[in-house]
Amino acid sequence: MSQHDQTGRPRMTTTGGAPIASNQNSETAGVRGPLLMQDYQLLEKLAHQNRERIPERVVHAKGWGAFGTFTVTNDISQYSCASIFTQVGKTTDMLARFSTVAGEAGAADHERDVRGFALKFYTDEGNWDMVGNNTPVFFVRDPLKFPDFIHTQKRHPRTNMRSATAMWDFWGQQPESLHQVTILMSDRGLPQDPTFMNGYGSHTYSLWNAAGERFWVKFHFKTQQGHRFFTNGEAAEIIGHNREGYQEALFGKIEDGNFPRWKMMVQVMPELDAEKTPYDPFDLTKVWPHSDFPLIEVGEFALNRNADNYFAQIEQAAFSPSNKVRGIGYSPDKMLQARVFSYADAHRYRLGTHYEHLPVNAAKCPVHHYHKDGQMNFMGHQSGSVDAYYEPNSFGGAVEDPSFAEPPLRISGEAGRHPHQQQMDDYTQVRALHDTVLTAEERGRLYKNLAAAMEGVSDERILDVALAHFDAISPAYGAGIRAARAEKAREHQHAAE
Ligand code: NDP
Ligand code: HEM
Repeated sequence: MSQHDQTGRPRMTTTGGAPIASNQNSETAGVRGPLLMQDYQLLEKLAHQNRERIPERVVHAKGWGAFGTFTVTNDISQYSCASIFTQVGKTTDMLARFSTVAGEAGAADHERDVRGFALKFYTDEGNWDMVGNNTPVFFVRDPLKFPDFIHTQKRHPRTNMRSATAMWDFWGQQPESLHQVTILMSDRGLPQDPTFMNGYGSHTYSLWNAAGERFWVKFHFKTQQGHRFFTNGEAAEIIGHNREGYQEALFGKIEDGNFPRWKMMVQVMPELDAEKTPYDPFDLTKVWPHSDFPLIEVGEFALNRNADNYFAQIEQAAFSPSNKVRGIGYSPDKMLQARVFSYADAHRYRLGTHYEHLPVNAAKCPVHHYHKDGQMNFMGHQSGSVDAYYEPNSFGGAVEDPSFAEPPLRISGEAGRHPHQQQMDDYTQVRALHDTVLTAEERGRLYKNLAAAMEGVSDERILDVALAHFDAISPAYGAGIRAARAEKAREHQHAAE
């Protein structure tokens, strides 16, 4: 039987492949009904609709993505033997997904929030995921605090509304968060669209070369479109008539052939130098100063292809720091270590056991493993041999390759729950950002944004705690926020009169 009707259009079928005579009328007893139980076509249609939604990501639920190409522009083989970096000019297919953190899947795009910056490189030695943000630091440095922090960003259990009280209560008691809060409330906290922001791996990762030497590394992805931002007021106006501005911009630019580009750069630290820096180089609330660790160019990527099916290719995309390849590794950063567990666990819940075999997540190189069976397993024999469903085996199944081993890492110290709060300097780098990096105009907008974010806090004592930290970062910082708050109070008074 032909798959097509006389006009050349494909025949509609049941999911079992049987052609359908009518997709307009249910099967009924008589013209007026009732329905017949045997109308499986109707039952199937309703049942499928009931299963169209999957759990949204617990964080970073709203996102925009596209496919692209990464090209090496500089030889970094002295630092890494990763196959993706082996040769200047080498290209690798990739996927990017940008996101906001706190809002649900239907949230408006132009909300002030940290932006996710997740990249999947389909390298010829397996998938390498770089799951970063548009900021170089994070709110907390111990993963035990991550769920608490996220709870402050989500809805209050009783009011079902976002709570400024919860956010400032937490931030004030976790002063390590104020570096990230400063960036979030600066112009960079509200980019005009995803093409106008940098990405950062944020964590310290590691690289190792063919000689087995390890280097600590920070990844930077520099926008080639420049930085452009909206103020809160401009964003509110946009959201009033368009809640999908990022989707529209990213999709539209790529459809028009106006491909956005980013340069990949690294800061590199020889393994043993980690003992010499005045700050903990594995602390996610700190950057490595550019003057100590200059940026080294690696390559560039361009996003040049929109997904054909948003759900299949962007919503079902599963990024995870656990996806790493030879020549690129982790570091002792506790946050990174926790993420190695958390993402794949989230994917198994959100997408299912075999999410890695969905086309968008599947490696573009041969995959051989001994995981077996499980729900929706459609892959057949993964070991490379029918009789080899365990390992070791004598039936030609896939075997390990010691040449891929990471060089051993020397560690020392006593096991324990070491308190980090008192020992760390949470102020110096924020002071540098506030006092020397930001211009006077940028500082002015920062104060206004902070004052706006503080509105609605139920108890002034909560803000006193936070403001004391801003004073300690820089007296001018605390004073600037207080002045902006006083200005806001005057505006509210005028409006009420
Ligand atoms: P530099 O003067 O060499 O670097 C300052 C960097 O600040 C710039 O290169 C730029 O990063 C970034 N920047 C500029 N405007 C803003 C903004 N509105 N919000 C956030 N970042 C901005 O000094 P240091 O390397 O010594 O860093 C000083 C401070 O700058 C740090 O404490 C940190 O707060 C901030 N910063 C540092 C980064 C780093 O990796 N060293 C990265 C980002 C911020 P970029 O070039 O990445 O656009
Ligand atoms: C998404 C956990 C810190 C960037 C997620 C998801 C989880 C998670 C469970 C949802 C995954 C999914 O359902 O697909 C954590 C934990 C953290 C942490 C436990 C700390 C201990 C960070 C940090 C960054 C980051 C520090 C950036 C540097 C992202 C991004 C996404 C994400 C970009 C969305 C990925 C995508 O587009 O699918 N995180 N996260 N997270 N996280 Fe984290």
